[in-house]
Amino acid sequence: MLGRRDLLKTSGATALATMLPHSAGAATADALRAAPPTGPREIVSLDAGWRFHLGHASDPARDFGFGRSHDTFAKSGDAGTPVAEAKFDASGWETVSLPHDWAVDLPFERFGPAGSDADKTGSFQGFKPLGRMWPASSVGWYRIVLPLPKGDAGRRLLLQFDGVSRDCRVILNGFFVGANESGYAPFELDITDFAKPGEDNVLVVRCDVSLGEAWSYEGAGLYRAVRLVRTAPVHVRQYGATVRSTVGAQGATTQILTEIVNDGPAVPAQVRSIVSDATGRVVATLLSDPITLPEWATLTTTQQTLIARPTLWSLETPHLYTLTTEILVGGVVVDNDRTHFGIRTLRFDADKGFFLNGRPVKIKGTCNHQDHAGVGFAVPDSLHVWRLEQLKAMGANAYRSTHHPAAPAILAACDRMGILVLEETRQMSSNAEAMSQLDRMVRRGRNHPSIFLWSIGNEEIHRGTETGARIAETMKRRIYQLDGTRLVTEAFNGKFGEGASRVLDVMGCNYYLDAIDGYHASHPTVPMIGTETGSTVMTRGEYARNDAEGFVPAYDKEYPRWATTAEKWWSFYDERAFLSGGFVWTEFDYRGEPTPFERWPENVSNFGQMDLCGFPKDNYHYYRAWWGSAPVLHLFPHWNWPGREGKPVSVWVHSNCAEVELLLNERSLGRKPVVRNRHLEWEVPYAPGKITARGFRDGRQILTAERATTGAAARIGLSSDRRRLAPGEVAVVRAAVLDAQRREVATASNMLRFALSGDARLLGVGNGDPRSLEPDHAPQRSAFNGLCMALIQAGPRGGPIRLEARGDGLAPAMLPLIGARA
Ligand code: GAL
Repeated sequence: MLGRRDLLKTSGATALATMLPHSAGAATADALRAAPPTGPREIVSLDAGWRFHLGHASDPARDFGFGRSHDTFAKSGDAGTPVAEAKFDASGWETVSLPHDWAVDLPFERFGPAGSDADKTGSFQGFKPLGRMWPASSVGWYRIVLPLPKGDAGRRLLLQFDGVSRDCRVILNGFFVGANESGYAPFELDITDFAKPGEDNVLVVRCDVSLGEAWSYEGAGLYRAVRLVRTAPVHVRQYGATVRSTVGAQGATTQILTEIVNDGPAVPAQVRSIVSDATGRVVATLLSDPITLPEWATLTTTQQTLIARPTLWSLETPHLYTLTTEILVGGVVVDNDRTHFGIRTLRFDADKGFFLNGRPVKIKGTCNHQDHAGVGFAVPDSLHVWRLEQLKAMGANAYRSTHHPAAPAILAACDRMGILVLEETRQMSSNAEAMSQLDRMVRRGRNHPSIFLWSIGNEEIHRGTETGARIAETMKRRIYQLDGTRLVTEAFNGKFGEGASRVLDVMGCNYYLDAIDGYHASHPTVPMIGTETGSTVMTRGEYARNDAEGFVPAYDKEYPRWATTAEKWWSFYDERAFLSGGFVWTEFDYRGEPTPFERWPENVSNFGQMDLCGFPKDNYHYYRAWWGSAPVLHLFPHWNWPGREGKPVSVWVHSNCAEVELLLNERSLGRKPVVRNRHLEWEVPYAPGKITARGFRDGRQILTAERATTGAAARIGLSSDRRRLAPGEVAVVRAAVLDAQRREVATASNMLRFALSGDARLLGVGNGDPRSLEPDHAPQRSAFNGLCMALIQAGPRGGPIRLEARGDGLAPAMLPLIGARA
């Protein structure tokens, strides 16, 4: 698996202190040339050095001749487009590095007249012009020149893609080397036969997003990493090393399966498996007897060891072991592979819920799509990590990847951070494509200790039918074959007990609280989990429903017909020990599905506990209060209501204190006891000044919160949760509009302009306004309810980085950051 350092080795080299196209590619070329001619496996990131151009989904003349005649596949080696030829001049194409999502730069477009079905469809995909209606922006071409050294002759060359949106064709030196339909599942292509060692090799990827896979924004293009693996003819298959441990009184009996590919004549070989703990201490070395690998075949070896006194992987101490696999031919290591794994036990109990290492753990989870403000689907690894940090800070302990396999960086980070993962495949079917997607998801994920349950689908139309049951059986059987250490669920909305639900190990319930007790009573031996719950709709910083503007209040009040409030679902789940816990829909807002306003210009959902930038909404603090362990006292709304003097304002508190007192301008409005899993509420006649909440435990005041009526916008405040950035790391900068006394003006909408210096680049901007049509890639952004965000990515050279923000009539601000050298 690609290490973070490998990734940065190339992608970091492209980072400049600008948003302009940058020169990339030299780093990729250097990395390729630097390869030793022989020796064990080598992994080269191909994230830098691509050229990109839009094509056309229905007009070959505007699609670089692709498909000009009916004979596209007539002659292998002639992909029918000059783009694939060495002499093609792509210098006029845009230079891009990965991750890349071309949809981010497309303009927002209306799909149809107000109120039409087309308008609704457009809103579901965030009004980006993708799909069959938009052939001119639904095909993207990527091209990169790979100077492969002569020493690559005789080695196996494997291209690995972590996920491409979507329906892509991969062409090397004019040959089609493969296609991949899924927008989410990883895939590997063996390019050995088509590669030309000692020459420049032209790699082209054509992506076509005319057809989609979701009811929300899906991005477009090479939005996850691509790499080249060069290795020996005898090598470990991708995801070919599997570790399974059983914990007993003696320790962890650990079985290691190794799938060895032999792309050559029969040869004797040995497998050496070295297990080390998190400190690097070797705890086991296993050398197999020589085995003869048959010619051109794959063979699986099994080794076993006992790890005495294993350090278990848990949420508090997510201890990881590393397996290094070496394949030896004639005593020489010809290939090596590295796998991280954890040792822990999982158990679901139909009465008592979920157990990790024998201890009960209530799942406090969030459902997650994978886009962010400023970058769309092109989320850098460190931003994925930042998003997981916010999840933990909210008190959550689990991540459901909806409705597709997660990015590798997410799985690796959940392993490291002690977050449980419900990993879900995209297509609930037993056709060849869906089974292949499932296969890849399970193979890739089975060593990750964070994954505790597999999901085979979400709210499928056939879920309650016999067809659904047959499909589920086939999928479950395959998961058992490939893994066999985790159970299987599916996210059901209603129809509990019908069709495919009879096949599931763990009943996955989306919403339908009314049906849960009945199901449990009639199926007392089936464990249950809330695969999806909540779906409260909230706009950050808005406190009244405004249909004309398209805002929903941030109180925990509004939800679509199938959904409920945070308070209702969590109280329900918390009271029932037999429920393993649940996953709130969603952690962050995401592009598309802008419920309840499914119309222009609404392009972002309102379901998040945080907005698209990761700025917390008030419900974030509800979960922090009841999921986290620290004392919480969150008071809202803001206290700027000019014109509402004397009229009641609904004041809420999310707190886990024992009692809370509210004061208006120092005058007490009374103390109220806090009831577990509930909020507190006062009706307060508005008067400018301040409201204050005091939180008490054991009669002692332990916390205070205050919201003051602010003055006019006067200055800018910049902050980031980190000052020092590793190469490639992203700082999520919070830009707030302040009054003269440096208090945040919660209603401000000033335009802020950013300027950056140092070895870094402004990756994108956002403000969390679900209706905003401002571009993500721009050096300025208007604030929405007082805030906007800038993403700063550090380059490889290190040194001081300065971000400045200015706005008309506002005192400017400067945020110093420090980049570490690669
Ligand atoms: C669920 C669905 C999610 C999302 C959500 C919105 O039914 O599984 O993908 O659409 O509703 O509430």
